[in-house]
Amino acid sequence: MSPTTPTSPALRPRPLGSTGPEVSAIGLGCMGMSALYGEADRGESIATIHAALDAGITLLDTGDFYAMGHNEMLIGEALRTAPAAHREKALTSVKFGALRDPDGGWSSYDGRPAAVKNFAAYSLQRLGVDHIDVYRIARVDPGVPIEETVGAIAELVEKGHVRHIGLSEVGADTIRRAAATAPISDLQIEYSLISRGIEEAILPVTRELGIGITAYGVLSRGLISGHFGRDRKLAANDFRGMSPRFQGENLQHNLDLVESLRKIAEQKGASVAQVAIAWVLSRGDDIVPLVGARRRDRLTEALGALDISLDSADLAAIEEAIPAGAAAGDRYPEAQMTHLDSER
Ligand SMILES: NC(=O)c1ccc[n+]([C@@H]2O[C@H](COP(=O)([O-])OP(=O)(O)OC[C@H]3O[C@@H](n4cnc5c(N)ncnc54)[C@H](OP(=O)(O)O)[C@@H]3O)[C@@H](O)[C@H]2O)c1
Repeated sequence: MSPTTPTSPALRPRPLGSTGPEVSAIGLGCMGMSALYGEADRGESIATIHAALDAGITLLDTGDFYAMGHNEMLIGEALRTAPAAHREKALTSVKFGALRDPDGGWSSYDGRPAAVKNFAAYSLQRLGVDHIDVYRIARVDPGVPIEETVGAIAELVEKGHVRHIGLSEVGADTIRRAAATAPISDLQIEYSLISRGIEEAILPVTRELGIGITAYGVLSRGLISGHFGRDRKLAANDFRGMSPRFQGENLQHNLDLVESLRKIAEQKGASVAQVAIAWVLSRGDDIVPLVGARRRDRLTEALGALDISLDSADLAAIEEAIPAGAAAGDRYPEAQMTHLDSER
């Protein structure tokens, strides 16, 4: 047992949607260990994955395009070097479809059935596993009906290469079309105190259809973690350097919201990040936050959210401090917003 990671009974696996696998109450999002948030330390990344598995986290989320396979190879190494008992419980959730170029650029998305099978073949190899637990296209390919993309994953399920089919950043109509094609375990989508767009039209549909939510950006990429300051220097390729929420007056406005959350956190004897994660956990057992910890100290902090209970007075105070729609700035740069089926 690692000295830094407490095992919490609250992590105990629960079903992800009505057809998905049993997963821990919190999943680990591994993206930042390879891409989008500046440099990461490889040894610390692997130690963080090991500590997460040790603590009882079973769900590891990645994308084949996070540093062009780097993130999958990192997870592959972490799984190979983990104790067998932890490795056997680990579940991989993999996104595919984003097309990259050698300079690190992003172009479009490919959801053609032949491409789906090609992406999966490479992911299985890089992860060093004989199946992927949940497989999903990161963004809908506008040139390919979702039925064809999901149908191709369903064929991979039939052959045993994939166990479950997920979705990512899609809206209500696409969810219904996908679910009419094959069983869908979960929708992966941004959800946090400052990104509440799913509440009106998307969450009612996932709940009606028995589809779980794996929520990303629960700390809004660090913005509402309580650790992000105006003076933070970002690497040239850091996503946050381009994100509207991290720019100029928007950033100041959003950090002011964090300060009002900090007051509530202090009264609870908790950190800002813990209250932000606990708030997402409080929204329902069908919602599994993916925390983007890439260091063991951040992971320990995130796991502490499981020990916080927010009563109705706490929830009302949080709602008053950060009402829905309070954030300044879109959650993605304009060009990337156009890829979000969930925002149509
Ligand atoms: N489906 C999609 O479209 C999509 C999009 C984005 C992400 N994802 C998935 O969702 C996962 C989580 O997303 P995210 O990384 O944006 O989530 P996040 O948890 O909102 O943000 C992670 C960032 O928060 C900071 N942080 C500060 N305190 C933390 C704490 N106690 N625990 C964790 N992080 C803390 C970390 O910064 P420092 O490391 O600098 O401390 C890290 O850069 C990703 O890894 C990826 O697998 C999916």
